[in-house]
Amino acid sequence: MEKINVAVIGTGFWGKNHARAYKELESTNLVAICDVNAERSQAIASQFGVKAYTDSAQMLKDKEVEAVSVCTWSTVLAQEALKSLEAGKHVLVEKPMAVDSKQAEKLLKTAQENGLHLTVGFLSRFIPGLQHIRDAVASKKIGELVCATAKRVTQWPERIGDVGVIKDTAIHDIDVMQYLTGEDPTAVFAKTGNMRHKQFEDYAHIMLTYKNGKSAFIESNWLTPYKTRTLTVTGSDAILRLDYMTQELFIEDAKQTLQPRYPVIEPLKLELQHFADCITEKKKPLLTGIDGLKALKIVEAIMESSAKNKVIKME
Ligand SMILES: NC(=O)c1ccc[n+]([C@@H]2O[C@H](COP(=O)([O-])OP(=O)(O)OC[C@H]3O[C@@H](n4cnc5c(N)ncnc54)[C@H](O)[C@@H]3O)[C@@H](O)[C@H]2O)c1
Repeated sequence: MEKINVAVIGTGFWGKNHARAYKELESTNLVAICDVNAERSQAIASQFGVKAYTDSAQMLKDKEVEAVSVCTWSTVLAQEALKSLEAGKHVLVEKPMAVDSKQAEKLLKTAQENGLHLTVGFLSRFIPGLQHIRDAVASKKIGELVCATAKRVTQWPERIGDVGVIKDTAIHDIDVMQYLTGEDPTAVFAKTGNMRHKQFEDYAHIMLTYKNGKSAFIESNWLTPYKTRTLTVTGSDAILRLDYMTQELFIEDAKQTLQPRYPVIEPLKLELQHFADCITEKKKPLLTGIDGLKALKIVEAIMESSAKNKVIKME
């Protein structure tokens, strides 16, 4: 089997998982990691038996590296992804991909000009239950799609990041709504605010409307004493409920409740396997940089809607 040589930039909480998953997958060969924290870089590199760097520019000179996962702090993701693309590497950049749509557009252009894969870490798309829901919506097995409601709430995070709850958390559900509907929203209305965070919003209530009366509602916050991550999709004939944490899916209609079961595979491994397969087989990924860009444009409309207290038209 052809193996892709990969590296990880940023090996904190999440990048460490990318490194471990690449190490465990048969289709990838982890060759290097980079973290600006020298102690962390050394520790993670020796854990996985790979080269350690503290400067990504040095690591990117390594011709052996073909593809890179960028898992740095959210505000430097785009800068590191751009350097990687300019060095000729395929890139999986973690969400939110960039701080704004302008930065994301630059990444898309650079990837396109260099004929490189650019994908974004929207992990939820790799959960089999969500793929089931997507197929059920597309094939109208639940009748007409009426509404999708996502709830992703938790207590105050231990690691307070460099972006608010929308770019950190709600962005997953913004992308899920794009994936489910296969459409861009026609309008956005949102209420966001900060109860505890000094700089960024820590709660967001977002309504997205689509053609033909469909709508989506997203509730995200860092203010709930327990963690909930759910999606409920209402069709004219049936309702689908997914718990992202247990990966349980329920299909309910007037007569019965069904619970299809899928083998539980770590979604991160499915995501990284797909990234490697798309490079080797030169195939179009399930999601690309365009999906990251679209999600950021919706984020910008959400911020504007909340600031102006009005509906923002997206057409
Ligand atoms: N897709 C998902 O489900 C998911 C889950 C968790 C985190 N994330 C994303 O992953 C990213 C990292 O999150 P985290 O929780 O691991 O943060 P973290 O703070 O634990 O780790 C970030 C690491 O990046 C390093 N770093 C920062 N700038 C760097 C640079 N220029 N070069 C090299 N290293 C650099 C830091 O030293 C740190 O070790 C965030 O963008 C976050 O949104 C995605």
